[in-house]
Amino acid sequence: MRVAIVPGDGIGVDVTREAVKTLEGAAGLSGIELVTTSFPWSADHYIKTGESLPKGAFDDLRANFDAIFMGAFGDPRVPDMAHARDILLGARFILDLYVNYRPIRCLDERLNPLKSHRAADIDFVIFRENTEGSYAGTGGNFKKGTADEVALQEDISTRKGVERIVRHAFGFAKARGKTRVCMADKSNAMRFVGDLWQRTFWAVADEYPGIEASHLYVDALVMQMVKDPSQFQVVVTNNMFGDIATDLGAVLQGGLGMAASGNVHPGRISMFEPVHGSAPKYAGTGKANPFGAILTIGLLFEHLGHEKPARAIEAAIVQCLEAGQCTHDVGGDLSTEAAGDAVVRRLRAALG
Ligand SMILES: NC(=O)c1ccc[n+]([C@@H]2O[C@H](COP(=O)([O-])OP(=O)(O)OC[C@H]3O[C@@H](n4cnc5c(N)ncnc54)[C@H](O)[C@@H]3O)[C@@H](O)[C@H]2O)c1
Repeated sequence: MRVAIVPGDGIGVDVTREAVKTLEGAAGLSGIELVTTSFPWSADHYIKTGESLPKGAFDDLRANFDAIFMGAFGDPRVPDMAHARDILLGARFILDLYVNYRPIRCLDERLNPLKSHRAADIDFVIFRENTEGSYAGTGGNFKKGTADEVALQEDISTRKGVERIVRHAFGFAKARGKTRVCMADKSNAMRFVGDLWQRTFWAVADEYPGIEASHLYVDALVMQMVKDPSQFQVVVTNNMFGDIATDLGAVLQGGLGMAASGNVHPGRISMFEPVHGSAPKYAGTGKANPFGAILTIGLLFEHLGHEKPARAIEAAIVQCLEAGQCTHDVGGDLSTEAAGDAVVRRLRAALG
């Protein structure tokens, strides 16, 4: 397993240290040969060198690595986030990582914010289209800075782009023995892209007769995620709606510190990152929760076909939470490093 590591900025650096410790521990205990290579791309690097990442970096990653782990990006010294845009969006667009994979599982009753449901009821996956929609970067300004200013941001959906993410959602459901896939859009108000999503979704759904397909407008989706999350198994939606709905998903999991994600192109090099940002105020303080980053390592193992360490990592986190061996934000009093050590100890017991 050749894994590129990009810690990034702020708490990205702190949580990546623990994630790499877990990656090395779980790989070693599972007999998986692992080579990691760390890259300095960050705000610091950008300020020192004027470069976000070198020319050809993504070609190098594609040729020489199986997966990429990124911490987080964002630094007040680079207010326009130029480096983060080049690195994060660069990876998503240049490597064509069209699947944003966001498992939403609440791993401990204490983290469950809902009065009406148990933690076990919060267990579904959101697939967010990751390369199109309003984030494709097309649009422009006219008469900028005047009273007549016009701004356009275009929402681009292609048949190919919609079909491949919808197909991925159904394929995942089938492979995991799930029986329900729900598509969320806003086709009542956004008629043109909505119509494309609708026709594509129902056409693909016809190919999966064993799976119940359903549709919700995205405003209803977020309401239902709070009202009755147990109804969802697999949700598929566009880039912007997925961005918003998955942050609500993080709250259902116990907060940003617990949320993991994959940016995936099936069969190709893919990138894995915790959902949270660089939380500059916590950088280097030992307060950052490393569990989202460590669960992200689980997704990386899963993507590369190593189910056993993937399951062991999640089980170790469940046990740590149960024992209160976790950081402050999820009810414990451990430092970032001590929480990472607690996971590795449990992995040794499970896989050793
Ligand atoms: N993918 C990314 O790299 C990414 C994602 C979101 C935000 N950002 C950037 O990060 C910077 C800070 O943004 P923000 O404050 O809006 O979001 P953030 O996720 O960094 O932090 C928001 C709050 O969530 C909590 N939090 C987040 N991660 C945590 C963790 N691991 N452990 C404990 N608590 C945690 C903290 O209370 C924190 O103040 C900005 O520059 C932003 O642009 C980057």
